[in-house]
Amino acid sequence: MSMTTTEELVSHVESGSTLPASWYVDEDIFRLEQERIFERSWQCVGLADDLATSGDFITGKVGRVPVVVVRDKAGSLNGFVNVCRHRASIIVQGRGNRSTLQCPYHAWTYGLEGDLLSAPRSGAEAAFDASRFCLEKVAVEVFGPFVFVNGDVSSPSLASQLGDITTRMRADGLFFEGLVHTEHSVSEVAANWKVLVENFNECYHCPVAHPSFSRLVEVDPDRYRLEEAAFTSRAVTPLREHRNGSKVQYPYDVTGENTCGQYVTFWPAFTLSQSPGPRRAVGFYFEPLAPDRTRVVSETFVDPATPPEQIEILGAFSTEVAKEDQRLVEGVQQGLASKRIPHGTLLASERLVRHFDRLVVQAMDPGTWPRWRES
Ligand code: FES
Ligand SMILES: [Fe+2]
Repeated sequence: MSMTTTEELVSHVESGSTLPASWYVDEDIFRLEQERIFERSWQCVGLADDLATSGDFITGKVGRVPVVVVRDKAGSLNGFVNVCRHRASIIVQGRGNRSTLQCPYHAWTYGLEGDLLSAPRSGAEAAFDASRFCLEKVAVEVFGPFVFVNGDVSSPSLASQLGDITTRMRADGLFFEGLVHTEHSVSEVAANWKVLVENFNECYHCPVAHPSFSRLVEVDPDRYRLEEAAFTSRAVTPLREHRNGSKVQYPYDVTGENTCGQYVTFWPAFTLSQSPGPRRAVGFYFEPLAPDRTRVVSETFVDPATPPEQIEILGAFSTEVAKEDQRLVEGVQQGLASKRIPHGTLLASERLVRHFDRLVVQAMDPGTWPRWRES
């Protein structure tokens, strides 16, 4: 992509179009995104709870790069490319606890700080220098209960990219102190990851596609607030009001500390949401598997004072909304794949989609780095 193309694409996005349809279906674009977006931005790979003690590790993938995050004996979190320096085997799988990271292929053994401790029979080779074979580092940062990894160690920190959104989220009730993790779920959706993020960033579809949700919060753009910052976006909407003498039938008992819904996106593929009612937050992270396939991981956190039956009702409500969204995004993917609509068109109330599309265009052009990443 030349600068001209990027400028053209940006002006195309500014004038109210979505990204070209081909960007949601082409293998070449998918490969470029892996390299230019997912290997150089902050990806959630799991929960800090799973890294509580020395030797605990979790694994994940950023773009094409397998990564491992481990807590070392001094208590620090270290992130590494999870690929052996000998002949490139994946070193560890899944999650667990180990005192060293030993490769299953020829038993090269790395310490929790990434240094090569031993390589069988290497002692017999005078020229063998273990210090040349440390694991390659990736950047690690914790936000609330989530562990993020960035394949580019020179990237600005996650905290700096989030800016003041955490303060704004907290002011409206979204923070993790006092919440406990209640649910982990993984699913696959037959749509491009960008379709999922875009769908999360607009509520134009809410009155049409989410009948229960629309009885919970205000879904009229005059009543919700949209905010975009460099690498984040957020929608905040109040509990639905009773109007014209008629009472709203809420989909569940909304008694609780939270009086609004909020829907937050961290560039590129992590979202958080909160609904009115008891304090509860759901994080979603999206891992692109193919141009038309995305793995969705969700983690739910709830105020432990919430009665178990209420936790269940809230969970069922979230599942219902997620199923409605899944049908929508899978339908969009099929429509985009037809290539009969060269690009979509955005209305004013979809302006957070435009913000996201703009970030995609900028990230895809290395000519605009590092300027845009530090904005
Ligand atoms: S590939 Fe890891 S020890 Fe050989
Ligand atoms: Fe939706």
